[in-house]
Amino acid sequence: MARLGVNIDHVATIRQARGGAEPDPIAAAAIAELAGADGITIHLREDRRHIQDRDLKLLRQTVKTKLNLEMAASEEMVGIALVVKPDMCTLVPEKRQELTTEGGLDVRLNMELVTSAVERLQDGGIPVSLFIDPDPDQVKAANKVGADYIEIHTGAFAGAKNWKSEEEELRKIENAIRLAAKLGLGVNAGHGLNYSNIRKVAALGGIVEFNIGHSIISKAVLVGLDRAVRDMVDLVKYA
Ligand code: PXP
Repeated sequence: MARLGVNIDHVATIRQARGGAEPDPIAAAAIAELAGADGITIHLREDRRHIQDRDLKLLRQTVKTKLNLEMAASEEMVGIALVVKPDMCTLVPEKRQELTTEGGLDVRLNMELVTSAVERLQDGGIPVSLFIDPDPDQVKAANKVGADYIEIHTGAFAGAKNWKSEEEELRKIENAIRLAAKLGLGVNAGHGLNYSNIRKVAALGGIVEFNIGHSIISKAVLVGLDRAVRDMVDLVKYA
């Protein structure tokens, strides 16, 4: 049975919109765990646009399931990870201007940099996953640099404009899962997965963990809005 890692970056995005303390991703992580999440995923970006260093430190103390830190393969991030020791690090490409992670890590093009980051993290006792497109050459490169897991970027599948290209993208994911399994790599998957497209990917089997953020936090805003408005109506009307 696959496991669910809940990405709580967007909770921090809302907090940063006001620069205050709410909503606190630490509370969100606890609620997600109580609801059955198998892990909490956060991305500490170089520009600190959502998750802050304080969040990472506190989550390390409070998360009871598994803390997965998404990060660039940079000197700064490797240093932070080696001090905080998340349960897993997922190396992702990072561009300052992007809205979210666009495309997978080009492991083939950055063999030296990725190998060094993987080795240093593993020497510190942290398993490493590489966020890559479902491309056989990238899967082989991930194996070559000694990664423990790959996380298959499901964005092209999720963004497919018609049935035919969705099928094509699904086959690429399926082939990447098979190849990774043959090479002995664990397989995670994520990006753009939602309440309507998750079943097709989950039904492929062979995926250890899904990391899902946007669709869960979006749904939480909508399903939680009714209760939140009712509570405020009571206070306004019956003060
Ligand atoms: N996995 C990785 C490596 C990501 O970078 C992201 C986005 O931060 C996700 C999973 C979650 O994607 P989404 O928010 O679209 O569910």
